Amino acid sequence: MTGFEASRRFAQSLDAADPLAAFRDQFNFPEDRSGRRNIYVCGNSLGLQPKLAAQYVADVMSDWARLGVEGHFKAKRPWLQYHRLAADGFASITGARPEEVVAMNTLTVNLHVLMASFYRPDGKRKKIVIESTAFPSDYYAVTSQIQLHGLDPADCLVEWRPRDDELLYNEDLKDILDEQSDEIALLLLPGVQYYTGQVLDMAELCRLGKDAGCAVGLDLAHAVGNVELNLHEWAPDFAAWCTYKYLNSGPGAVGGAFVHTRHLDGDGTNQLTGWWGNEESTRFRMTRRFEPAAGAERWQLSNPPILALAPVLASLDVFENAGMEGLRAKSVKQTQFLKFLLDDGFTGQIDSITPMDARGCQLSLVITDSALDARGVFKSLEELHVTGDWREPNVIRVAPVPLYNSYEDIYELSVRLKAAIAANEQK
Ligand SMILES: Cc1ncc(COP(=O)(O)O)c(C=O)c1O
Repeated sequence: MTGFEASRRFAQSLDAADPLAAFRDQFNFPEDRSGRRNIYVCGNSLGLQPKLAAQYVADVMSDWARLGVEGHFKAKRPWLQYHRLAADGFASITGARPEEVVAMNTLTVNLHVLMASFYRPDGKRKKIVIESTAFPSDYYAVTSQIQLHGLDPADCLVEWRPRDDELLYNEDLKDILDEQSDEIALLLLPGVQYYTGQVLDMAELCRLGKDAGCAVGLDLAHAVGNVELNLHEWAPDFAAWCTYKYLNSGPGAVGGAFVHTRHLDGDGTNQLTGWWGNEESTRFRMTRRFEPAAGAERWQLSNPPILALAPVLASLDVFENAGMEGLRAKSVKQTQFLKFLLDDGFTGQIDSITPMDARGCQLSLVITDSALDARGVFKSLEELHVTGDWREPNVIRVAPVPLYNSYEDIYELSVRLKAAIAANEQK
Protein backbone atom coordinates (compact mmCIF):
# COMPACT_ATOMS: atom_id res chain seq x y z
CA MET A 1 0.00 0.00 0.00
CA THR A 2 1.51 3.37 -0.99
CA GLY A 3 1.32 6.45 1.21
CA PHE A 4 -1.23 7.82 -1.20
CA GLU A 5 -3.52 4.81 -0.88
CA ALA A 6 -3.19 4.76 2.88
CA SER A 7 -4.29 8.35 3.07
CA ARG A 8 -8.03 7.75 3.07
CA ARG A 9 -7.73 5.90 6.36
CA PHE A 10 -5.46 8.60 7.66
CA ALA A 11 -7.98 11.26 6.59
CA GLN A 12 -10.77 9.39 8.33
CA SER A 13 -8.71 9.19 11.51
CA LEU A 14 -8.10 12.95 11.37
CA ASP A 15 -11.84 13.53 10.95
CA ALA A 16 -12.60 11.26 13.88
CA ALA A 17 -10.26 13.30 16.08
CA ASP A 18 -11.43 16.71 14.80
CA PRO A 19 -13.24 18.73 17.49
CA LEU A 20 -14.86 20.90 14.79
CA ALA A 21 -16.09 18.01 12.61
CA ALA A 22 -19.74 18.42 13.63
CA PHE A 23 -19.98 21.91 12.10
CA ARG A 24 -20.04 20.31 8.66
CA ASP A 25 -23.62 19.22 9.27
CA GLN A 26 -24.67 22.81 9.85
CA PHE A 27 -24.16 23.55 6.13
CA ASN A 28 -26.06 22.76 2.94
CA PHE A 29 -23.93 21.13 0.25
CA PRO A 30 -24.63 21.03 -3.48
CA GLU A 31 -25.22 17.40 -4.41
CA ASP A 32 -24.69 15.20 -7.44
CA ARG A 33 -27.57 13.38 -9.13
CA SER A 34 -27.45 10.49 -6.74
CA GLY A 35 -27.67 12.79 -3.75
CA ARG A 36 -23.99 12.61 -2.78
CA ARG A 37 -22.38 15.82 -1.57
CA ASN A 38 -20.09 17.53 -4.06
CA ILE A 39 -16.50 17.97 -3.02
CA TYR A 40 -16.91 21.68 -2.46
CA VAL A 41 -13.57 23.47 -2.18
CA CYS A 42 -14.71 26.85 -3.44
CA GLY A 43 -15.19 28.80 -0.22
CA ASN A 44 -12.66 31.33 -1.50
CA SER A 45 -15.30 32.31 -4.05
CA LEU A 46 -18.67 31.63 -2.43
CA GLY A 47 -19.00 29.95 0.94
CA LEU A 48 -21.66 27.31 1.56
CA GLN A 49 -24.99 28.14 3.11
CA PRO A 50 -25.26 27.68 6.87
CA LYS A 51 -28.61 25.98 7.59
CA LEU A 52 -29.24 28.69 10.19
CA ALA A 53 -29.35 31.36 7.45
CA ALA A 54 -32.80 30.24 6.29
CA GLN A 55 -34.16 30.79 9.79
CA TYR A 56 -32.74 34.30 10.03
CA VAL A 57 -34.15 35.25 6.63
CA ALA A 58 -37.50 33.64 7.47
CA ASP A 59 -37.64 35.68 10.68
CA VAL A 60 -37.28 38.90 8.70
CA MET A 61 -39.90 37.84 6.16
CA SER A 62 -42.32 36.87 8.89
CA ASP A 63 -41.73 40.08 10.87
CA TRP A 64 -42.26 42.13 7.73
CA ALA A 65 -45.52 40.23 6.98
CA ARG A 66 -46.78 40.56 10.56
CA LEU A 67 -45.60 44.02 11.42
CA GLY A 68 -45.01 46.09 8.29
CA VAL A 69 -43.18 49.27 9.22
CA GLU A 70 -43.43 48.45 12.90
CA GLY A 71 -40.74 45.84 12.27
CA HIS A 72 -38.21 48.63 12.68
CA PHE A 73 -39.01 48.56 16.39
CA LYS A 74 -40.92 45.38 17.14
CA ALA A 75 -39.30 42.72 14.98
CA LYS A 76 -37.63 39.81 16.74
CA ARG A 77 -34.40 41.62 15.91
CA PRO A 78 -35.57 45.24 15.38
CA TRP A 79 -34.43 46.56 12.01
CA LEU A 80 -33.50 49.96 13.39
CA GLN A 81 -30.51 48.47 15.15
CA TYR A 82 -30.15 45.32 13.05
CA HIS A 83 -26.71 46.20 11.66
CA ARG A 84 -25.39 46.47 15.21
CA LEU A 85 -25.97 42.78 15.77
CA ALA A 86 -23.02 42.13 13.47
CA ALA A 87 -20.60 44.36 15.37
CA ASP A 88 -19.41 41.92 18.03
CA GLY A 89 -18.99 39.09 15.53
CA PHE A 90 -17.12 41.25 13.04
CA ALA A 91 -14.96 42.67 15.82
CA SER A 92 -14.06 39.24 17.09
CA ILE A 93 -13.21 37.86 13.64
CA THR A 94 -11.15 40.90 12.63
CA GLY A 95 -9.49 41.67 15.97
CA ALA A 96 -11.16 45.05 16.11
CA ARG A 97 -13.15 46.88 18.74
CA PRO A 98 -16.90 46.70 18.17
CA GLU A 99 -17.10 50.46 17.60
CA GLU A 100 -14.45 50.21 14.84
CA VAL A 101 -16.54 47.95 12.59
CA VAL A 102 -19.82 48.25 10.79
CA ALA A 103 -21.88 46.02 8.51
CA MET A 104 -22.82 48.03 5.45
CA ASN A 105 -22.91 48.08 1.64
CA THR A 106 -20.72 45.69 -0.32
CA LEU A 107 -16.97 45.52 -0.73
CA THR A 108 -16.22 47.79 -3.67
CA VAL A 109 -18.75 50.34 -2.41
CA ASN A 110 -17.07 50.34 0.98
CA LEU A 111 -13.64 50.80 -0.60
CA HIS A 112 -15.00 53.88 -2.36
CA VAL A 113 -16.76 55.21 0.73
CA LEU A 114 -13.59 54.82 2.79
CA MET A 115 -11.26 56.15 0.11
CA ALA A 116 -13.45 59.25 0.00
CA SER A 117 -12.25 59.82 3.56
CA PHE A 118 -8.73 58.42 3.45
CA TYR A 119 -7.48 59.21 -0.03
CA ARG A 120 -6.89 62.94 0.21
CA PRO A 121 -4.26 63.94 -2.35
CA ASP A 122 -2.42 66.88 -0.92
CA GLY A 123 0.49 68.78 -2.47
CA LYS A 124 3.10 66.28 -3.63
CA ARG A 125 1.35 63.41 -1.87
CA LYS A 126 -1.06 62.15 -4.51
CA LYS A 127 -0.20 58.57 -5.30
CA ILE A 128 -1.90 55.31 -4.45
CA VAL A 129 0.07 52.05 -4.26
CA ILE A 130 -1.71 48.82 -5.14
CA GLU A 131 -0.35 45.41 -6.11
CA SER A 132 -0.07 45.06 -9.88
CA THR A 133 -2.14 41.84 -9.80
CA ALA A 134 -4.89 43.40 -7.68
CA PHE A 135 -8.45 42.22 -8.19
CA PRO A 136 -9.84 44.28 -11.08
CA SER A 137 -12.54 45.89 -8.95
CA ASP A 138 -9.86 47.36 -6.66
CA TYR A 139 -7.95 48.59 -9.66
CA TYR A 140 -11.07 50.25 -11.09
CA ALA A 141 -11.88 51.75 -7.71
CA VAL A 142 -8.47 53.37 -7.18
CA THR A 143 -8.25 54.51 -10.79
CA SER A 144 -11.61 56.23 -10.57
CA GLN A 145 -10.76 57.80 -7.23
CA ILE A 146 -7.60 59.27 -8.73
CA GLN A 147 -9.56 60.56 -11.73
CA LEU A 148 -12.29 62.03 -9.54
CA HIS A 149 -9.61 64.18 -7.94
CA GLY A 150 -8.73 65.49 -11.41
CA LEU A 151 -5.50 63.46 -11.47
CA ASP A 152 -4.03 61.04 -13.97
CA PRO A 153 -3.64 57.36 -12.98
CA ALA A 154 -0.56 57.22 -15.23
CA ASP A 155 1.12 59.58 -12.74
CA CYS A 156 -0.61 58.59 -9.55
CA LEU A 157 -1.05 54.82 -9.59
CA VAL A 158 2.02 52.94 -8.38
CA GLU A 159 2.12 49.17 -8.72
CA TRP A 160 3.86 46.77 -6.37
CA ARG A 161 4.84 43.88 -8.64
CA PRO A 162 5.21 40.22 -7.75
CA ARG A 163 8.46 38.47 -8.64
CA ASP A 164 8.81 35.55 -11.08
CA ASP A 165 7.33 33.15 -8.53
CA GLU A 166 4.18 35.33 -8.60
CA LEU A 167 4.64 36.30 -4.95
CA LEU A 168 4.83 39.73 -3.39
CA TYR A 169 7.91 40.66 -1.36
CA ASN A 170 7.84 43.35 1.30
CA GLU A 171 11.35 44.47 0.32
CA ASP A 172 10.00 45.53 -3.06
CA LEU A 173 7.26 47.57 -1.43
CA LYS A 174 9.85 49.07 0.87
CA ASP A 175 11.92 50.11 -2.14
CA ILE A 176 8.88 51.88 -3.61
CA LEU A 177 8.25 53.64 -0.32
CA ASP A 178 11.90 54.61 0.09
CA GLU A 179 11.97 56.14 -3.38
CA GLN A 180 8.60 57.87 -3.41
CA SER A 181 7.31 58.04 0.16
CA ASP A 182 6.63 61.77 0.19
CA GLU A 183 4.48 61.33 -2.92
CA ILE A 184 2.34 58.46 -1.69
CA ALA A 185 -1.00 59.24 -0.12
CA LEU A 186 -2.44 55.74 0.28
CA LEU A 187 -1.50 52.06 0.24
CA LEU A 188 -4.49 49.92 -0.70
CA LEU A 189 -3.42 46.31 -0.27
CA PRO A 190 -4.92 42.87 0.21
CA GLY A 191 -4.72 40.71 3.30
CA VAL A 192 -4.62 37.58 1.15
CA GLN A 193 -3.79 37.79 -2.55
CA TYR A 194 -6.77 36.35 -4.41
CA TYR A 195 -4.87 34.53 -7.17
CA THR A 196 -1.91 33.01 -5.35
CA GLY A 197 -3.51 32.71 -1.92
CA GLN A 198 -0.42 34.36 -0.39
CA VAL A 199 -1.17 35.77 3.05
CA LEU A 200 0.54 39.11 3.35
CA ASP A 201 2.18 40.28 6.53
CA MET A 202 -0.51 42.82 7.28
CA ALA A 203 1.13 44.07 10.47
CA GLU A 204 4.27 44.84 8.50
CA LEU A 205 2.35 46.50 5.65
CA CYS A 206 0.64 48.77 8.15
CA ARG A 207 3.96 49.58 9.79
CA LEU A 208 5.64 50.37 6.47
CA GLY A 209 2.78 52.64 5.44
CA LYS A 210 2.75 54.43 8.76
CA ASP A 211 6.53 54.97 8.69
CA ALA A 212 6.20 56.43 5.21
CA GLY A 213 3.48 58.81 6.40
CA CYS A 214 0.73 57.43 4.18
CA ALA A 215 -2.73 56.12 4.88
CA VAL A 216 -3.21 52.35 4.74
CA GLY A 217 -6.36 50.53 3.64
CA LEU A 218 -6.75 46.74 3.54
CA ASP A 219 -8.99 44.73 1.26
CA LEU A 220 -9.76 41.69 3.39
CA ALA A 221 -12.02 39.86 0.92
CA HIS A 222 -9.91 36.71 1.06
CA ALA A 223 -8.63 37.14 4.59
CA VAL A 224 -11.72 37.57 6.75
CA GLY A 225 -12.93 34.31 8.28
CA ASN A 226 -9.84 32.66 6.78
CA VAL A 227 -6.83 33.80 8.80
CA GLU A 228 -6.60 35.48 12.17
CA LEU A 229 -6.69 39.26 12.00
CA ASN A 230 -5.69 41.85 14.51
CA LEU A 231 -6.89 45.10 13.00
CA HIS A 232 -6.96 47.26 16.08
CA GLU A 233 -3.36 46.47 16.91
CA TRP A 234 -2.08 46.57 13.32
CA ALA A 235 -3.90 49.88 12.97
CA PRO A 236 -4.55 50.37 9.26
CA ASP A 237 -6.61 53.50 8.73
CA PHE A 238 -9.41 51.45 7.23
CA ALA A 239 -10.32 48.02 5.94
CA ALA A 240 -13.22 46.49 4.05
CA TRP A 241 -14.39 42.97 3.31
CA CYS A 242 -17.14 40.96 1.71
CA THR A 243 -19.05 38.29 3.58
CA TYR A 244 -19.87 35.81 0.82
CA LYS A 245 -16.53 33.94 0.78
CA TYR A 246 -15.24 32.52 4.06
CA LEU A 247 -18.03 34.27 5.97
CA ASN A 248 -20.65 32.14 4.19
CA SER A 249 -23.32 34.84 4.07
CA GLY A 250 -24.58 34.34 0.52
CA PRO A 251 -24.15 36.01 -2.85
CA GLY A 252 -23.97 39.79 -2.61
CA ALA A 253 -24.54 39.76 1.16
CA VAL A 254 -23.81 42.91 3.14
CA GLY A 255 -20.10 43.61 3.59
CA GLY A 256 -18.06 44.97 6.45
CA ALA A 257 -15.89 47.99 7.13
CA PHE A 258 -13.33 48.96 9.74
CA VAL A 259 -12.11 52.41 10.67
CA HIS A 260 -9.44 52.65 13.34
CA THR A 261 -10.31 54.30 16.67
CA ARG A 262 -7.98 57.21 15.98
CA HIS A 263 -10.37 58.40 13.24
CA LEU A 264 -13.60 57.97 15.14
CA ASP A 265 -14.01 61.40 16.65
CA GLY A 266 -14.36 63.39 13.44
CA ASP A 267 -17.23 65.82 12.93
CA GLY A 268 -18.49 64.13 9.79
CA THR A 269 -17.00 66.65 7.35
CA ASN A 270 -14.32 64.32 5.98
CA GLN A 271 -16.63 61.66 4.64
CA LEU A 272 -19.56 60.80 2.45
CA THR A 273 -22.71 61.06 4.51
CA GLY A 274 -26.22 59.66 4.51
CA TRP A 275 -28.99 59.56 7.07
CA TRP A 276 -28.07 56.18 8.56
CA GLY A 277 -24.69 57.62 9.58
CA ASN A 278 -26.49 60.20 11.66
CA GLU A 279 -26.74 59.58 15.38
CA GLU A 280 -29.83 57.42 15.92
CA SER A 281 -31.44 59.65 18.55
CA THR A 282 -31.61 62.61 16.17
CA ARG A 283 -31.87 60.79 12.83
CA PHE A 284 -35.62 61.13 12.60
CA ARG A 285 -35.76 64.82 13.40
CA MET A 286 -35.17 65.25 9.70
CA THR A 287 -33.05 68.36 10.06
CA ARG A 288 -30.22 69.44 7.77
CA ARG A 289 -27.62 69.14 10.48
CA PHE A 290 -25.59 65.92 10.27
CA GLU A 291 -24.73 64.60 13.71
CA PRO A 292 -22.28 61.74 13.25
CA ALA A 293 -23.13 58.50 15.00
CA ALA A 294 -20.51 57.11 17.35
CA GLY A 295 -17.92 54.79 15.86
CA ALA A 296 -17.58 53.44 12.34
CA GLU A 297 -21.38 53.53 12.03
CA ARG A 298 -21.12 57.11 10.90
CA TRP A 299 -19.91 55.91 7.50
CA GLN A 300 -23.28 54.23 6.87
CA LEU A 301 -25.28 55.88 4.13
CA SER A 302 -28.61 54.12 3.65
CA ASN A 303 -30.81 52.06 5.89
CA PRO A 304 -29.37 48.55 5.58
CA PRO A 305 -30.85 45.83 3.35
CA ILE A 306 -32.08 43.68 6.22
CA LEU A 307 -32.70 40.61 4.06
CA ALA A 308 -29.10 40.67 2.84
CA LEU A 309 -27.85 41.18 6.37
CA ALA A 310 -29.83 38.33 7.94
CA PRO A 311 -27.50 35.54 6.68
CA VAL A 312 -24.49 37.53 7.91
CA LEU A 313 -25.85 37.32 11.45
CA ALA A 314 -26.54 33.61 11.06
CA SER A 315 -23.02 33.03 9.85
CA LEU A 316 -21.48 35.08 12.65
CA ASP A 317 -23.35 32.89 15.14
CA VAL A 318 -21.73 29.82 13.60
CA PHE A 319 -18.29 31.45 13.77
CA GLU A 320 -18.81 32.42 17.38
CA ASN A 321 -19.62 28.83 18.26
CA ALA A 322 -16.69 27.40 16.32
CA GLY A 323 -14.05 30.01 17.30
CA MET A 324 -11.57 31.51 14.87
CA GLU A 325 -8.52 30.16 16.67
CA GLY A 326 -9.60 26.53 16.35
CA LEU A 327 -10.72 27.05 12.76
CA ARG A 328 -7.35 28.45 11.80
CA ALA A 329 -5.51 25.60 13.53
CA LYS A 330 -7.62 23.09 11.59
CA SER A 331 -7.13 24.97 8.34
CA VAL A 332 -3.34 24.85 8.74
CA LYS A 333 -3.54 21.07 9.16
CA GLN A 334 -5.91 20.67 6.22
CA THR A 335 -3.71 22.52 3.76
CA GLN A 336 -0.69 20.63 5.09
CA PHE A 337 -2.53 17.38 4.33
CA LEU A 338 -3.46 18.59 0.85
CA LYS A 339 0.14 19.57 0.14
CA PHE A 340 1.31 16.16 1.34
CA LEU A 341 -1.08 14.49 -1.11
CA LEU A 342 0.12 16.73 -3.95
CA ASP A 343 3.79 16.07 -3.23
CA ASP A 344 3.13 12.36 -2.86
CA GLY A 345 1.00 11.76 -5.93
CA PHE A 346 1.34 14.59 -8.44
CA THR A 347 5.04 15.32 -8.87
CA GLY A 348 5.71 16.85 -12.28
CA GLN A 349 1.99 17.38 -12.88
CA ILE A 350 0.67 19.77 -10.28
CA ASP A 351 2.26 22.07 -7.78
CA SER A 352 0.99 24.78 -5.48
CA ILE A 353 2.07 28.36 -6.06
CA THR A 354 0.78 29.34 -2.63
CA PRO A 355 3.70 29.73 -0.21
CA MET A 356 3.32 27.17 2.56
CA ASP A 357 4.71 29.61 5.11
CA ALA A 358 2.14 32.28 4.16
CA ARG A 359 -1.04 30.44 3.39
CA GLY A 360 -4.67 30.51 4.44
CA CYS A 361 -7.33 28.02 3.35
CA GLN A 362 -6.58 28.41 -0.34
CA LEU A 363 -3.93 26.59 -2.32
CA SER A 364 -3.60 27.73 -5.92
CA LEU A 365 -2.69 24.65 -7.91
CA VAL A 366 -0.76 25.16 -11.09
CA ILE A 367 -0.79 22.44 -13.73
CA THR A 368 2.93 22.14 -14.40
CA ASP A 369 2.78 19.30 -16.93
CA SER A 370 2.63 21.14 -20.24
CA ALA A 371 1.44 17.97 -22.00
CA LEU A 372 -1.82 18.26 -20.08
CA ASP A 373 -4.70 20.46 -21.20
CA ALA A 374 -5.09 22.40 -17.96
CA ARG A 375 -8.57 23.65 -18.75
CA GLY A 376 -9.57 20.09 -19.68
CA VAL A 377 -8.41 18.84 -16.29
CA PHE A 378 -10.55 21.45 -14.58
CA LYS A 379 -13.57 20.52 -16.72
CA SER A 380 -13.12 16.85 -15.88
CA LEU A 381 -12.95 17.75 -12.21
CA GLU A 382 -16.26 19.54 -12.53
CA GLU A 383 -17.75 16.47 -14.21
CA LEU A 384 -16.52 14.49 -11.23
CA HIS A 385 -18.52 16.81 -8.95
CA VAL A 386 -15.63 18.76 -7.56
CA THR A 387 -16.38 22.47 -7.17
CA GLY A 388 -13.17 24.48 -7.26
CA ASP A 389 -12.39 27.50 -9.34
CA TRP A 390 -10.45 28.18 -12.46
CA ARG A 391 -8.11 31.06 -13.23
CA GLU A 392 -6.38 31.49 -16.56
CA PRO A 393 -4.00 30.25 -17.80
CA ASN A 394 -3.48 27.08 -15.75
CA VAL A 395 -4.49 27.57 -12.14
CA ILE A 396 -7.15 25.75 -10.14
CA ARG A 397 -7.83 27.40 -6.83
CA VAL A 398 -9.02 25.07 -4.10
CA ALA A 399 -9.86 26.10 -0.57
CA PRO A 400 -10.70 23.49 2.04
CA VAL A 401 -12.77 25.37 4.58
CA PRO A 402 -12.43 24.10 8.15
CA LEU A 403 -16.06 24.82 9.04
CA TYR A 404 -17.45 22.42 6.47
CA ASN A 405 -14.72 20.47 4.67
CA SER A 406 -13.52 17.20 6.12
CA TYR A 407 -10.07 15.71 5.73
CA GLU A 408 -11.74 12.96 3.72
CA ASP A 409 -13.01 15.66 1.31
CA ILE A 410 -9.39 16.61 0.76
CA TYR A 411 -8.39 13.03 0.16
CA GLU A 412 -11.33 12.60 -2.23
CA LEU A 413 -10.29 15.78 -4.03
CA SER A 414 -6.90 14.22 -4.69
CA VAL A 415 -8.50 11.00 -5.95
CA ARG A 416 -10.70 12.91 -8.39
CA LEU A 417 -7.80 15.10 -9.43
CA LYS A 418 -5.91 11.94 -10.38
CA ALA A 419 -8.92 10.75 -12.38
CA ALA A 420 -9.26 14.15 -14.09
CA ILE A 421 -5.61 14.05 -15.11
CA ALA A 422 -5.94 10.47 -16.37
CA ALA A 423 -9.01 11.42 -18.42
CA ASN A 424 -7.06 14.17 -20.11
CA GLU A 425 -3.97 12.06 -20.73
CA GLN A 426 -6.10 9.60 -22.66
CA LYS A 427 -7.74 12.24 -24.83
C1 LIG B 1 -10.05 40.99 -3.64
C2 LIG B 1 -11.41 41.40 -4.08
N1 LIG B 1 -11.71 42.71 -4.16
C3 LIG B 1 -12.93 43.12 -4.58
C4 LIG B 1 -13.91 42.22 -4.93
C5 LIG B 1 -15.23 42.72 -5.41
O1 LIG B 1 -16.22 42.47 -4.46
P1 LIG B 1 -17.69 43.07 -4.55
O2 LIG B 1 -18.31 42.58 -5.80
O3 LIG B 1 -18.37 42.50 -3.34
O4 LIG B 1 -17.57 44.55 -4.51
C6 LIG B 1 -13.64 40.85 -4.85
C7 LIG B 1 -14.66 39.86 -5.23
O5 LIG B 1 -14.48 38.67 -5.22
C8 LIG B 1 -12.36 40.43 -4.42
O6 LIG B 1 -12.04 39.13 -4.35
